[in-house]
Amino acid sequence: MKILMVCLGNICRSPLAEGIMKSKLPRDFFVDSAGTSAFHRGELPDVRSIKTAEKHHLDITDQRSRPIEISDLEEFDYIFCMDGSNFKNVQDLAQNDAQRSKIHLILEILKNPKLKEVPDPYYGGDQGFENVYQMLDRACELWAEQLIP
Ligand code: 4NP
Repeated sequence: MKILMVCLGNICRSPLAEGIMKSKLPRDFFVDSAGTSAFHRGELPDVRSIKTAEKHHLDITDQRSRPIEISDLEEFDYIFCMDGSNFKNVQDLAQNDAQRSKIHLILEILKNPKLKEVPDPYYGGDQGFENVYQMLDRACELWAEQLIP
């Protein structure tokens, strides 16, 4: 089973989502992340994401930003988008219904109409990153329960 976490820059939200999901799944799951943009290609996660992960005993410093590729839609089984803009951008890359059906908003599993998107914390402070961590931790917990056979 292969899972891809997607945000805009692949330096703030999706690297955290990747680290959190890896910590909740057995090793035979493959978890990766990507951005809908190539702005930060090759970069480490944002230092605020690294610090937030560390606070929760996760090391995400092996990650490097990469843009999503067309082939990811074939290769991955689940593609979890952080917000509606990411969702639309990934939908636009899909070439058939099988690929489209793999694309989800990661928070849909919370079934909370007031919390559908992971807010972009890039221009905010450290509290924004902790807030992102908390919502991703809960959503990944629920997805893991659903995905682990
Ligand atoms: P991310 O956050 O999509 O969670 O990685 C962002 C990082 C960088 C930019 C936007 C969002 N940017 O515009 O450079």
